[in-house]
Amino acid sequence: MTDWGLWIHETAALNDETIALLAVQPDDAVLEIGCGPGRTVAALAAHGAHVTGVDPSPTMIAQARRRNAPAIRAGRVELLAGHAGELPAPDQSFDCALTVHTSVVLARTPDLNL
Ligand SMILES: C[S@@+](CC[C@H](N)C(=O)[O-])C[C@H]1O[C@@H](n2cnc3c(N)ncnc32)[C@H](O)[C@@H]1O
Repeated sequence: MTDWGLWIHETAALNDETIALLAVQPDDAVLEIGCGPGRTVAALAAHGAHVTGVDPSPTMIAQARRRNAPAIRAGRVELLAGHAGELPAPDQSFDCALTVHTSVVLARTPDLNL
């Protein structure tokens, strides 16, 4: 297993707990900020949500696109380059949003006023 594979297993439990707390309903529009390699995006799509994942890292977006290719083709998942300070979607676009394991990086994002 690569280091990368290990990393997403380490973050999985808290991401799954967050999904459960959101109580996502089928066809909800869900935003994940800092989606990383897209494991949580895939889990949300499996709940029937329409999911938008945003991450500033081209490497992460590429990984997430590979992981979610069938759901992207089906129009259930969109993965966008962007960051929390300047989301590539208008206000009121989503029913709910989540961000997990991002507090350190978001604290350094200008204009978030955390
Ligand atoms: C530790 S990873 C967590 C990934 C995923 N949320 C998880 O829990 O597995 C942090 C992610 O935040 C992203 N990130 C860094 N700065 C960001 C910002 N300003 N806005 C949104 N995401 C950011 C990184 O590219 C990285 O994919």
